[in-house]
Amino acid sequence: MPSELCDMSLRQTQELLRLTDSTLQNICCRRFTSEELYEEALSRVLGGKGRRGPGSILLVFKNGDGKYSGRVFHLLADGMAESEEITFDPASAYATDMSSADIVISNWCDDCESVGEYQDNFHPAVKAYVASPIKNFVCNRISGDRPGVIIAFNYPGEATHYDAEVLRSLAVVIGSLVTLSNEVRETERAFIYTIEALARACEAAEEETGKHVVRVNRYAGALAANMGLPPAFVEAISYSAQMHDVGKIKIPNSILLKEDILDAAETELIKMHPVYGQQILGDSPRLTLAREIAISHHESWDGSGYPYGLKGERIPLAGRIVKIADVYDALRSKRSYKPAFSHFETIEVFRRGDERISPLLHFDPEVLKTFFKIDHIFEKIYDSLGSSTP
Ligand SMILES: [Fe+2]
Ligand SMILES: [Fe+2]
Repeated sequence: MPSELCDMSLRQTQELLRLTDSTLQNICCRRFTSEELYEEALSRVLGGKGRRGPGSILLVFKNGDGKYSGRVFHLLADGMAESEEITFDPASAYATDMSSADIVISNWCDDCESVGEYQDNFHPAVKAYVASPIKNFVCNRISGDRPGVIIAFNYPGEATHYDAEVLRSLAVVIGSLVTLSNEVRETERAFIYTIEALARACEAAEEETGKHVVRVNRYAGALAANMGLPPAFVEAISYSAQMHDVGKIKIPNSILLKEDILDAAETELIKMHPVYGQQILGDSPRLTLAREIAISHHESWDGSGYPYGLKGERIPLAGRIVKIADVYDALRSKRSYKPAFSHFETIEVFRRGDERISPLLHFDPEVLKTFFKIDHIFEKIYDSLGSSTP
């Protein structure tokens, strides 16, 4: 029996190792949330499906305010079940036990006359979620960015030091992955901040308030969400849209702000801003969508746009979405060649067109249909983040 237990604990430890390995390999392209990590890590250790392991695991972390809170997890046939959050009063014996807990292996028969008497040691909410009476547990401290405790209940038979070894590995894996996930989140925040700074720095001279790019992000996100596109795409377009005009940084303000009609050379230069934008955005994989938007947001559904005259679905979807977002905002804003339009006047242009815009020829019909369904959201976005330009 001990050698079987030893094999089992080795296999479980190897599974945890594979989890950390695959996490590290995929770190740039996976959603990296603590909740997902807990589930993945715990599902490799919990008993069931012919594997030795605890029936339930309580994962508790110390919060910023010094209190402890956590959840009980156990495996069901179709996935992981978790309890509601349980908060432990910091003055209670449970919290004191948890703050001092290092590794503990406990079986009811070691300290008590009966299983019933053993139950007195446990928090009522924990007992309620651990469906059957608690007969044993192993406890281990989690160290790292978010200190905590992991307590595994109800191993088949008795809890052994092999079980404790697996739990110790689990505690190390969870502690380090939580630290890593915090760092990834920090890096994500830094990334978003950097691209916002880039978008602001490159904001076209005719946009005076810095809010145009923020609004275009919001319109594009709203269109994508209401077209039923995947959440990851909605999220990505909501920060990538703001970089649509970064290429304008290479166009002199004397041309961007010129009130007279542009000559042919000036028009050609302006039409280069999508290409410049694509160049500025470089080859970072995280900026793929931003590059697609920069290069394609002036293409038109009928092929009459620039720089390549792409037609229909050959134009990247994100470009087709941002085109509508950008045109709406340009119509609402004052330009050297036109006053700011009201929402109603702008909708009229989207319905009937004007001397520059032919909606049926220029816009993707699906995106346009979605726009008319949610134009009230566009109006709200513009009103809440309106231009301060008179
Ligand atoms: Fe543009
Ligand atoms: Fe724009």
